[in-house]
Amino acid sequence: MKVLIVGDIVGRSGLNRLKAELLSRKDIDFCIVNGENAASGRGVRVKEYNEILDDGADVITMGNHMYYRKEMASEYAKLKRLAIPANLTNLVGNKNVVVEKNGLRFGVINLIGTFAMGDIIENNVRNPFTVVMEQIEELNKQNLDYIFVDFHAEATAEKIAMGHYLKDKVNCVYGTHTHVQTADERIFDTGMAYITDVGMTGPKDSVLGLKKEIAVERFTSGKFIHYECSTNDAMFNAIEVEFDDVSKKAISIKRINLN
Ligand SMILES: [Fe+2]
Ligand SMILES: [Fe+2]
Repeated sequence: MKVLIVGDIVGRSGLNRLKAELLSRKDIDFCIVNGENAASGRGVRVKEYNEILDDGADVITMGNHMYYRKEMASEYAKLKRLAIPANLTNLVGNKNVVVEKNGLRFGVINLIGTFAMGDIIENNVRNPFTVVMEQIEELNKQNLDYIFVDFHAEATAEKIAMGHYLKDKVNCVYGTHTHVQTADERIFDTGMAYITDVGMTGPKDSVLGLKKEIAVERFTSGKFIHYECSTNDAMFNAIEVEFDDVSKKAISIKRINLN
């Protein structure tokens, strides 16, 4: 069983690249996409949610950029394939998503980190290590074949610790949010696949998706300058994880980083 997990989609060029890659990959059994930057870099709207699912994704996960779409706050819970960070206390939505596909049952949990994620997150978050155990307990009652955890966090240590914490409880823990793919993919001795960050599917010639000129000006002037999503061609960052159909243990985890 092969799973494709795609790192944060940024803007129109990221969406276009996702579409092209999914069209060319017919060997994927299950696909999870982080869509937190799909709407011009900031959050997701119903429009992008539908587009990503139409392209072939099975579940969409989110992150801190949900806060930029205030008009969406009452919509998230209605989007059945959208998992929001389960440990946020002031947003309503699905704390996990369960999908049945080709006779297999998949559960997806999204969590958010607690370090350097901005005040709005840090003031409205529960301990992700506590919350993930509650979510796993709930999913374990639902006779699932696979559980995936997207840990949307800045700090590498927080994500690596989560990997160790869950190594005998789920099938794959992966990080998102930094938009930079890490080269530390591994399979734990328990058969759980892990990577600290999947990376970004978004404008290559940018600073994490933000127009590079604005990013440089922000740093050189020390002033806040309004966000503008870069529009140039997107790179494609993902991981492909293959599992043994009987033991459900990971056989391989491969990084994909295409320019
Ligand atoms: Fe992101
Ligand atoms: Fe993020």
